[in-house]
Amino acid sequence: MLKINNLEVVYNDVVLVVRGISLEVPDAGIVALLGSNGAGKTTTLKAISKVLYSEEGKIEDGTIKFNEHLLNELSPEQIVRLGVCQVPEGRQVFDELTVDENLRIGAYTRKYSSDIRGDLKRIYDYFPVLAGRKDVLAVYLSGGEQQMIAIGRGLMSRPRLLMMDEPSLGLGPLVIAKIFEISKKVNREEDVSILLVEQNANLALNFSQYGYIMENGKIVLDGPAEKIMENEDIKEFYLGLTEVGKKKSYRNVKHYKRRKRWLS
Ligand SMILES: Nc1ncnc2c1ncn2[C@@H]1O[C@H](COP(=O)(O)OP(=O)(O)OP(=O)(O)O)[C@@H](O)[C@H]1O
Ligand SMILES: [Mg+2]
Repeated sequence: MLKINNLEVVYNDVVLVVRGISLEVPDAGIVALLGSNGAGKTTTLKAISKVLYSEEGKIEDGTIKFNEHLLNELSPEQIVRLGVCQVPEGRQVFDELTVDENLRIGAYTRKYSSDIRGDLKRIYDYFPVLAGRKDVLAVYLSGGEQQMIAIGRGLMSRPRLLMMDEPSLGLGPLVIAKIFEISKKVNREEDVSILLVEQNANLALNFSQYGYIMENGKIVLDGPAEKIMENEDIKEFYLGLTEVGKKKSYRNVKHYKRRKRWLS
């Protein structure tokens, strides 16, 4: 479904942030893109959705294909129309608009109001907590509820591929579990593929079928989620475990050495 080949992205014509990555998301699949701060995860999503253009970013090399379409030269709106939607990092809801208005904005590429009404109902069924707060300004909602708005707004464009950028950021475990449970339901019931960017590797790998680890603009490891979870380096560095169940301090981990090993 989504196929990225050898993608390179630069900012301001000089800074090469994504350095030749290849990545695939199959039909109705859930794929995790993991990595530490500044690895280039968000930039990769922005290159797909083309939000990149508004930030002096440019695709320097490589191809991004979605089904039979080459996405490289398309506009953000064309990308949404094709069924690819990015739920941004940090939620970015419109504070001064109500929950309902925020959700409706997600349908901006669509025409038929009866369809849109039907979809709103569907989203409120997924997120009943939002249904009870339709007319409340988004600014008054909790972080978890705002994340639900952000996902709901994305779903209003009827995506075939939903890209979520760190949906767990700053949220408590119960809300996170709820959000992941609903995302899985959307994936199952509507065959929406998901590309999930996360720093929380444990969470993401348990949710996904396949994972990619990104460091410094490159994919340093990929494989089925359960395989990645078994990888000793990943366990130690990303999951913070030495033996299953035993926590280890991040400070003891020689990050550099390990990264070098992955890259070699
Ligand atoms: N608009 C921009 N202009 C210039 N450099 C940028 C821009 N956005 C990001 N960068 C740089 O690109 C690199 C990758 O950033 P990116 O946001 O893609 O990382 P990330 O993996 O999403 O990190 P995090 O986990 O912290 O969100 C960083 O070094 C960052 O400083
Ligand atoms: Mg990011």
